[in-house]
Amino acid sequence: MSESTHPLAGIEHVTVIGAGAMGSQIAMVSALAGYTTALVDIADEYVARAKSQLESRMNRDVEKGRRSQEDVTVAFDRLTFTTDRDGSAAHTDFVIEAAVEDLGIKRELFADLDRTCPPHAILATNSSNIVSSRVADATGRPDKVCNFHFFNPALVMECVEVVPNDHTSGETVETAVALARSFGKKPVTLKRETPGFVANRLLGALRTEALKLYEEGIADFEDIDVAAKTALRHPMGPFELMDLVGVDVVYLIRMAEYEQTGNPESLPRPAIKELYEAGRFGRKSGQGWYSYD
Ligand code: CAA
Repeated sequence: MSESTHPLAGIEHVTVIGAGAMGSQIAMVSALAGYTTALVDIADEYVARAKSQLESRMNRDVEKGRRSQEDVTVAFDRLTFTTDRDGSAAHTDFVIEAAVEDLGIKRELFADLDRTCPPHAILATNSSNIVSSRVADATGRPDKVCNFHFFNPALVMECVEVVPNDHTSGETVETAVALARSFGKKPVTLKRETPGFVANRLLGALRTEALKLYEEGIADFEDIDVAAKTALRHPMGPFELMDLVGVDVVYLIRMAEYEQTGNPESLPRPAIKELYEAGRFGRKSGQGWYSYD
């Protein structure tokens, strides 16, 4: 699909900020869907690493016959890996911010994006624990700010949560929902903000119970994972999933939730804190609940 036949009217250029595991795959999803896409980060090494990981992932998909070489080549032609945020922002229609989960950094970023993006551009955040009302007031366009939340791994998981804040316009929600659909995803629209949104609140309940069972010495974590997979048919057990998402991410999500609710029950469970402090972040650090070569 060429640039002139982009799938959703009004959206041609998508900018994804943050070339980590989420941002890089979101950018690939966008490019595969036909949008001219920029994946932006602060250092060349981050965007170079994202590029090489996406190339390996796409090569594997081609080898396995899941995608054609032509689709992948055309998608990479549409995808720019860059550190030039202002340059990308200047002609973007939709921004998906997937940077570090730090409110101060996000607020600065949204204020900058507001200055550098065209007035019509929608500024969305992939965050699930920083609701968009906490960044919308750093911009002069709160009606065009919302959460647009993907799941890990974003190339595979179909759900995208679209979450308006009190100021988000209906038009912004409609565009975000349509964009998610054109990405081949299944949008879930929330009526209002809540930390964690729908899926992570569901997942959090399961994870808390799994951690309590482990901390109370009732079962080994490996067995709890087996139960989730074989009794409930979950594709991964809760401990395997923490390693995929990142123990650090789980820890920081709980801390952010605690800061918002003040409820001690929101704090990370002791077993998570222990792993976090030991730097055992899961797959990304080679060690989490499980060990990875
Ligand atoms: N990136 C992209 N594609 C991936 C992938 C990754 N990290 N891991 C697996 N895949 C794809 C590949 O196509 C892979 O096939 P190949 O290895 O042949 O290329 C295919 O999935 C199957 O992978 P596996 O055989 O390794 O394992 P699997 O059948 O168990 O599938 C899975 C992997 C799709 C991740 C599956 O286990 C699953 O759905 N797990 C649950 C994931 C989940 O719940 N995610 C939500 C987390 S919560 C969250 O993300 C919220 C947040 O705010 C952080």
